[in-house]
Amino acid sequence: MARINDHYQKLQAGYLFPEIGRRVRAFQERNPDARVIRLGIGDVTLPLAPAVVDAMKGAADEMGTPEGFRGYGPELGAEAFLVDGILEHDFRSRGVELSSDEIFVSDGSKQDSGNIQEIFGQDCRVAVTDPVYPVYVDTNVMAGRTGTADQQGRYGGILYLRADESNGFVPGPPEEPVDLAYLCSPNNPTGAVATREGLAAWVAWALEHDAVLIFDAAYDAFIQDPALPRSIYEIDGADRCAIEMRSFSKRAGFTGVRCAYTVVPKALTGAAANGERVSLNALWLRRHSTKFNGVPYVVQRAAAAVFSPEGRKQTGEQVAHYMANARLIREGLGAAGFTCFGGEHAPYVWARTPEGLSSWDCFDRILADAHVVTTPGSGFGSAGEGYFRISAFNSRENAEEAVARIRKAF
Ligand code: MLT
Repeated sequence: MARINDHYQKLQAGYLFPEIGRRVRAFQERNPDARVIRLGIGDVTLPLAPAVVDAMKGAADEMGTPEGFRGYGPELGAEAFLVDGILEHDFRSRGVELSSDEIFVSDGSKQDSGNIQEIFGQDCRVAVTDPVYPVYVDTNVMAGRTGTADQQGRYGGILYLRADESNGFVPGPPEEPVDLAYLCSPNNPTGAVATREGLAAWVAWALEHDAVLIFDAAYDAFIQDPALPRSIYEIDGADRCAIEMRSFSKRAGFTGVRCAYTVVPKALTGAAANGERVSLNALWLRRHSTKFNGVPYVVQRAAAAVFSPEGRKQTGEQVAHYMANARLIREGLGAAGFTCFGGEHAPYVWARTPEGLSSWDCFDRILADAHVVTTPGSGFGSAGEGYFRISAFNSRENAEEAVARIRKAF
């Protein structure tokens, strides 16, 4: 008998975005002529930057020649030209020194942030913020680390740190003991960003309590203030307590191309059952080389092109475009009486639902009356109830039109 992994039965309904997709499809079937504007899932809309396209084409041509053809990539799957670009532009330029064997190139931060829990013990206690990117929670549920959910959808085995207006949606470290804490800055879904002092408090806490921070920096490129930290390794001691994830998805339009990386510093260790300290870098290397064969060569060339002078300029313009949308959404809805947060260092605006509507009722109302897709805040956790998220990933015209339609609907 093929017994299933019963922990999957503990997962809440469907994953958030397929449920939104289902509601939008049902709406479109009932209203085939409605022009729906999608500001729900944070998916990029601008075409790839020319520097990226040229690099992909060049790599494809190379692969079509006897001299340029490549099979499996290097042992870790990461090409030196890409890792060198990452080390130089994402870290050395911010005063952070890492080495190439601390960078693990992958096909997405969703996968990495979901898979990283595999190298930790079953009995590790996990903390997440609430609201939270659902992947952190669901993958720990699947792994059997959480127990069952209560009526609010909260799992007893997880410590939820409330991110709300009182703490600027950036909770500090918990009072009670935790082994793993997931942090995301700039934050998905709230758009809030951690300050240097805020991250330093987390690093000090993790070092004191022998905990590991899993820091998701997939949206770092959207930080507008150069004084704000982009990497947790800008904080002293973070290399002894933190794993970091970065992605090309949002910064360079790679949601359909797929390239990201995870940093696991060699100084970082966890405890074995006998108390021995074990390198987490070595464990992740073992996991990565067992379950993954690397990102396609053409994709790695495309990602490396993001670091070229033209690539940085062109992708910087893309980020600026989305951030102008974020400002327009935040200011446009704000002027109409909505209370908005985020959108200043992140491509997401987080707004209070009007008229005391629940998050899903607000989602349905905006879809029905404005033909705009948003994301219900409660889909990210019970503390997201009473909020909705608006993504800035779209054309200027659609962002303007969506704001106008939402204003008219309320
Ligand atoms: C989101 O909308 O929250 C993101 O697109 C999800 C993701 O990056 O996986």
